[in-house]
Amino acid sequence: MSGYILAIDQGTTSSRAIIFDADRKIVGIGQKEFRQIFPHDGWVEHDPEEIWQSVVATIRTALSKANIEARDVAAIGITNQRETTLIWDRKTGNPIHNAIVWQDRRTSAFCSSLRDAGKESIFTEKTGLLLDPYFSGTKIKWLLDNVDGARARAEKGELAFGTIDSFLIWRLTKGKVHATDATNACRTMIYNIEDNRWDEELLGILDIPANLLPQVKDCADDFGTTDSELFGAEIKIRGVAGDQHAATIGQACFEPGMLKSTYGTGCFAVLNTGSDLVRSQNRLLTTIAYRLNGQTTYALEGSIFIAGAAVQWIRDGLKLVQNASDTGPLARKADPSQNVYMVPAFVGLGAPWWDAEARGAIYGLTRNSGPAEIAKAALEAVCYQTRDLLSAMRKDWDQHGDTVLRVDGGMVASDWTMQFLADILDAPVDRPTILETTAIGAAWLAGTTVGLWPDQTEFAASWARDKRFESKMDEKTRTAKLAGWNLAMRRTLLT
Ligand code: G3P
Repeated sequence: MSGYILAIDQGTTSSRAIIFDADRKIVGIGQKEFRQIFPHDGWVEHDPEEIWQSVVATIRTALSKANIEARDVAAIGITNQRETTLIWDRKTGNPIHNAIVWQDRRTSAFCSSLRDAGKESIFTEKTGLLLDPYFSGTKIKWLLDNVDGARARAEKGELAFGTIDSFLIWRLTKGKVHATDATNACRTMIYNIEDNRWDEELLGILDIPANLLPQVKDCADDFGTTDSELFGAEIKIRGVAGDQHAATIGQACFEPGMLKSTYGTGCFAVLNTGSDLVRSQNRLLTTIAYRLNGQTTYALEGSIFIAGAAVQWIRDGLKLVQNASDTGPLARKADPSQNVYMVPAFVGLGAPWWDAEARGAIYGLTRNSGPAEIAKAALEAVCYQTRDLLSAMRKDWDQHGDTVLRVDGGMVASDWTMQFLADILDAPVDRPTILETTAIGAAWLAGTTVGLWPDQTEFAASWARDKRFESKMDEKTRTAKLAGWNLAMRRTLLT
């Protein structure tokens, strides 16, 4: 059998295709950024055709870089930005509107009205989520209510809803398969995570016809085969997981108590709670970590909307650096006596605050503050927010013993940031040798399904650490810094 596995990693700012050989070494990568569309304050959209074109182009690039043909690829694993919502025509495959991105806040007032009507507990009980515009449910309703004729067409069964994974599966199989996996489904706000099915009561509240919805499968499953015209041969699609879930798998966080945090556009900390569906008392999300062989593993998740995006803003908005990787060295030059805090609430605040209307702020500026202090404040903010998540996790579930955080994503390349993270968490931070954890997680799902890659235990044993960062900060300094952060956060919150 052909021995390569292709991971499609469709993220918020770029699409990537990564080819692994039978030894799990990367042999080809394609990457393409696409436009971020901001039609109004707090609205974020993607053009689905751009996403699709970028995925096809990056797969072709990766194949050519690896110097292989589609027939050499044994299977595809898909991982994707979650919650981003699309509706398309079942006949033509054409989307009826741009994709509404997970960061988009347009349904914030509707979420508040549901909350005021006392509906939050029903959603939380069934989905593990909170009433926030972050999730797909209210975005689906917005599309049905605001795109001309959409609701009538949906009721006639002419339209299909999907998160990005479903849309890609639909396009890759030329409309033969309309499916998603349990991890993507559980972020829609209409999926019951205890019963593992779409929930009729929630569909009723949001006025969403059930015939829009994809079939929900395990993460390692048969998602069809790519149309041979696309890449010259059919390729099996055998793995699907939302990006944070794929990273949890890629970090081999398979045991209850294991914890990972991924620093991409946002930052997402996921704590494996095993078969225990832990209900958060501290505004964290309960989510499906992964579903394999019909067995659901649950997790607590803390979601921060802006992490790497703050670095992107420093680079593209403020133009303080030329490359994102220059931010760490710039921060290192900051005057240690200044206490500048940035609360990067550019698109509101996620866990544990959930304030959709809050906006970003910088505190503590003096006449001496400059680019270095602002860069430092942006990097530190990501670490402070991680600490807020982990504190909430500890309160919700005290069975996870000593915290060791496995980290991945673009920002973890900065030793300076990782040291500050360990200092402020007062806990060890482990950076793995393989930083492509999201892609390798998706590849493992596909590779293990076709029998090419090892089973879970062997895969977990092969996880290796590049570096451990231990806390070096004294308690007094940490306490003072945290007090400053908490004050900045209180000043920013609107609700
Ligand atoms: O929930 C949104 C998340 O899946 C996006 O991840 O990597 O694009 O920040 P990322």
